[in-house]
Amino acid sequence: MFDFVVKGTAFSSENPKEVKSLKDHLFCISDKGIIAAVISPEEKEYSQIIKEYREQNKFYEYSENQIILPGFIDLHVHAPQWAQIGTAMDIPLNDWLHTYTFPLESKFSDEEFAKTVYSDLVSQLIANGTTTVLYFGTIHRAASRILAEICCDKGQRGLVGKVVMDDKEQNPDYYRDESTAEALAETEAFIQDIQKLAEKAPQGIYPVITPRFIPSCTDDALKGLGELAQKYDVHIQSHCSESDWEHNFVKDRFGKNDAMALNDFGLLTEKSVMAHCGLLADEDMQLFAKKGTAVAHCPISNVYFGNTVTPIAKLLHEYEVETGLGTDISGGFSPSLFDNVKQAVISSRMLEEGVDQNIESEKRGVANSRITLNEAFYLATAGGGESLSLPIGKLDVGYAWDAQIIDLVGKNTFIPRYSKEETLMNLFQKVLYLARPEYIQEVWIQGKKVHEINKRMTEV
Ligand code: GUN
Ligand code: FE
Repeated sequence: MFDFVVKGTAFSSENPKEVKSLKDHLFCISDKGIIAAVISPEEKEYSQIIKEYREQNKFYEYSENQIILPGFIDLHVHAPQWAQIGTAMDIPLNDWLHTYTFPLESKFSDEEFAKTVYSDLVSQLIANGTTTVLYFGTIHRAASRILAEICCDKGQRGLVGKVVMDDKEQNPDYYRDESTAEALAETEAFIQDIQKLAEKAPQGIYPVITPRFIPSCTDDALKGLGELAQKYDVHIQSHCSESDWEHNFVKDRFGKNDAMALNDFGLLTEKSVMAHCGLLADEDMQLFAKKGTAVAHCPISNVYFGNTVTPIAKLLHEYEVETGLGTDISGGFSPSLFDNVKQAVISSRMLEEGVDQNIESEKRGVANSRITLNEAFYLATAGGGESLSLPIGKLDVGYAWDAQIIDLVGKNTFIPRYSKEETLMNLFQKVLYLARPEYIQEVWIQGKKVHEINKRMTEV
């Protein structure tokens, strides 16, 4: 009845605040890679299922020194910027784009170069436990298609955008779309191309409409992209209210904030994911909630380029905006969502107000801004799934079997437990704070094992 059954101890978000622990549960996976049943040791069929699937050699059992987490969902990666990861973090956003990033991205006209960088990146992200990624490519249709093909080959769920930058004043001549008409035609051709490619990818490959950010696009391009989004009902991604420079640029051009301007062009939909959003006004958040548009929170990048802390507690609880997590490679230096989970908590604690608001020197910060580790984990998993409107990010019935197996005590790993009474939720916290990529023993996407540590899964 099931394709295979997995036994192990797992953690999965119930909602933004609550994580449930599933000790020694059985995860029964269908031939489509979907979780068809989750069975606890108390249920009467538990032993029978183990016996039956063990006999058929379709039973995977993880030990008490291993735990299962849902695969992470990265809502914001600039794939070409992998080539400059961990470097060029020294200047403000707009200078950074022109000094380092546009020259690098322009090199992706070279398809061989694209193949090398994208292949390394997709492997690295999988090894870091990331099973779904919302990618910006470059302006090049061919290189962006190569990225989607590599996701197909390696089994990663990829949502990929050919970037649109058609404004002749804001973008350098060596790196922009030739014309607005060409930018729109190339985007439409890319959508059709990727939808065709997707027929061969059971884990899901999706085209994404990708205006880089408002300053890089003409009004006609933004309008045309909104129309394409409606015609093809595809995902949309962009940067929104990230930095002071960009925020003020949009205000000068349209007399309103990014969110309102993007909405005027039909670019805020249920399938939109907007990166950063550190400078959203309350009305912008309300609009996001109304439209079902999601925020990709990039806490490491925001320290370097946004100079802001995105108000996640407010987005999640006051306005109930769909929110997930992004590395923003290479605005963020780390390919790991474990690192971004930690930074999301750290940044929110820094935004928190002083202890006693009656004392003058403690009147600082923003009340109720801290988030918990559970909430940060939600962003990296279930929140990401909701943001993309896909059944991913939870270890629950109807969701894809996207999982990472964490080794607690091995040759290169050590997450200490000194008491048998230690709760599973304590262990969960230790794992999120201490796990490194070398702790991730296996990664599964849509029921298929795509990574085993120290073993090459696909030939490049
Ligand atoms: N805004 C426009 N382009 C970019 C980019 O590549 N990275 C970041 N962080 N912000 C941007
Ligand atoms: Fe970005």
